[in-house]
Amino acid sequence: MADAAGILEAREVCEAGQSCYTGPFKPMKGMSNLDWGMRNRLSRLIKADGHTQFLPIDHGYFQGPTRCLECPDQTIKELLPYADGLFVTRGVLRASVSPDLDIPIILRVSGGSSVVGEDLADEIITTSVEEMLRLNVAAVGLSVFVGSQYERQTLQSLAELVSTCEDFGIPVMAVTAVGKELEKRTSRYLGLACRICAELGAKVVKTYYCDEGFDKVTHGCPVPVVIAGGPKCSSELEVFDFVYDGMQKGAIGVNLGRNIWQHEHPLPMMRALNGVIHDGLNPRQAQEFYRELVSGA
Ligand code: 5RP
Repeated sequence: MADAAGILEAREVCEAGQSCYTGPFKPMKGMSNLDWGMRNRLSRLIKADGHTQFLPIDHGYFQGPTRCLECPDQTIKELLPYADGLFVTRGVLRASVSPDLDIPIILRVSGGSSVVGEDLADEIITTSVEEMLRLNVAAVGLSVFVGSQYERQTLQSLAELVSTCEDFGIPVMAVTAVGKELEKRTSRYLGLACRICAELGAKVVKTYYCDEGFDKVTHGCPVPVVIAGGPKCSSELEVFDFVYDGMQKGAIGVNLGRNIWQHEHPLPMMRALNGVIHDGLNPRQAQEFYRELVSGA
């Protein structure tokens, strides 16, 4: 019988080891033991080169209608084709982002404090796991405030969020936030905060770049690190410089908002940074590319 012969043949191939799937797998630090769904979600966010460019528009969750994010749909329209993930709250996602777009969502799931309140660090988890599933997210993001009055509360939120999300294969991105205390951004502090996030189960950590010792921050963290932006820099080159240096020192990409969409030329900035992250452009080459795009060359 033809069918039986086919089965026999298939078994022989299998015994010869030829049907065992051995890759290709992307280079993703600390990810070799993840279950399929968790890895697949991360794989949507981290591209074939192991790098990524997240576009954050979550700022309104604590600072209201941020400049250039008044109408988020208008701001992101031209940038989305170059973004590997969109970091956003559920409110703005539903109100301003089409569900028909093919962009992996990192849902901001912490909040509860504001720039006019007592303390920015006083955050709690604001979103349920049912909501994460309903919105078909690729990952969720939550801030922790190490060294603040709310250290324990925010680290407990991270640990509980990881426990919940593990059951559903949803990766958690921890954000090492400093609130208004920008001077905290030293390698010693950032290294400590990133490592704690990874130890509590974060699959990706977003942290600030620092001039001195950033390699210690990334090397001390067993999961991928993405670079956060911070306030707008004074020149394009300054942005390309810190992103390039951060990537050389072990970051896998960025989560950069204001330095892109508050810039005079958001699309050229987005594309030039994409060149640094995915095409290996150095800061001078990125600046040249940026200028070509601005001049329409
Ligand atoms: C706000 C955030 C933002 O995602 C983060 O700060 C990145 O944006 P920017 O580059 O504008 O700083 O986590 O809490």
